[in-house]
Amino acid sequence: MAHYMAHLPYLTLDYLSTAVILLDEELRVVHLNPAAENLFEVSGKNLTGNFLQMLFADTVQIENAMQRALRDNASYIEHDLMLSTHAHNKLHVRCTVTPVRLDTPCLLLEFHPMDRSLKLAREEQMLDQTQANRLLLRNLAHEIKNPLGGIRGAAQLLEQELEKPALREYTQVIVQEADRLRALMEKLLTPQRNTQHSALNIHEVLERVRSVVLAEMPEGLKIQRDYDTSLPALIGDKEQMIQVVLNIVRNAAQAMHGKGLIILRTRIARQVTLFKKRHRLAVMVQIIDDGPGIPPELRDKVFYPLVSGRADGHGLGLTLAQDFVSQHHGTIEFDSEPGNTRFTVMLPLP
Ligand SMILES: Nc1ncnc2c1ncn2[C@@H]1O[C@H](COP(=O)(O)OP(=O)(O)OP(=O)(O)O)[C@@H](O)[C@H]1O
Ligand SMILES: [Mg+2]
Repeated sequence: MAHYMAHLPYLTLDYLSTAVILLDEELRVVHLNPAAENLFEVSGKNLTGNFLQMLFADTVQIENAMQRALRDNASYIEHDLMLSTHAHNKLHVRCTVTPVRLDTPCLLLEFHPMDRSLKLAREEQMLDQTQANRLLLRNLAHEIKNPLGGIRGAAQLLEQELEKPALREYTQVIVQEADRLRALMEKLLTPQRNTQHSALNIHEVLERVRSVVLAEMPEGLKIQRDYDTSLPALIGDKEQMIQVVLNIVRNAAQAMHGKGLIILRTRIARQVTLFKKRHRLAVMVQIIDDGPGIPPELRDKVFYPLVSGRADGHGLGLTLAQDFVSQHHGTIEFDSEPGNTRFTVMLPLP
């Protein structure tokens, strides 16, 4: 019975369509599920009890990921992992390493094959989209700004003619709202101020955003830090980066109505391909919240301008964030389900 119980967890793994390898404390293969057997074209039986070197020609990257997961006692994701199996040729995967406790401590390795062309197509689409967004916004802002001047002027003239002072309240509303709209349009129209790229510490950016958002929502909001403090400096525009992170963190805080937990995480990522270019190193910034999640009907379009799920939202926060990140040759993505929303920003390191 005890024997059977011990194997129950492995059995469950066999139902998964994701390729999974389970390693013991000494990093020997305990179990390889059928999806992994398929992906790597090996037999699990032959591998059980052996080291990963039996399977892969080069295990440096993967060992690195395992060490990190063990050190932090948390999941570690290696994006863009190139694996060459002895049996087969090269495989391009994303690998998640998670320390787990079954009857003894183990490491769970999940492998998701990456379709290069799919990823490229998505990135290209994102770049096109960013450019289209920028153009649309500028045109729209321009179209709105002109008549606004007329509306404001007419309201002021009307005000002078009004006999009952009480009615001025209404013209005041027109003038003030016209001013508010104009300020927003100015924001969209001002040509990108000269960006200043210099060495920047991502943790300074995150700390600044953290204090701003905590000041805005003093009650009930927790912002936890999970930083890899050994990260090297990025080259970029600090103000833009602050805006990127602020827009994402603020969205999370707003979605949770100021009550909940936000985690700011930084990690190093190796061998990442962003917009067709391969980078040896990149910084991964994740903003994770335990709020309600992005409404399903918005998931395909949150990066589009003027898409908002909030009554008072402009729907510009994520559009601008995406624009700024792509100016840094980086990408921005998210996964979201109720209780767990995660935005991931990847920024290449020089
Ligand atoms: N962490 C999150 N949790 C739940 N919903 C989110 C989250 N982040 C974004 N959203 C949804 O995506 C929408 C678009 O966000 P975006 O920042 O682009 O615009 P906005 O917040 O509505 O307005 P703005 O930022 O311009 O004031 C939000 O309105 C919200 O519905
Ligand atoms: Mg927003």
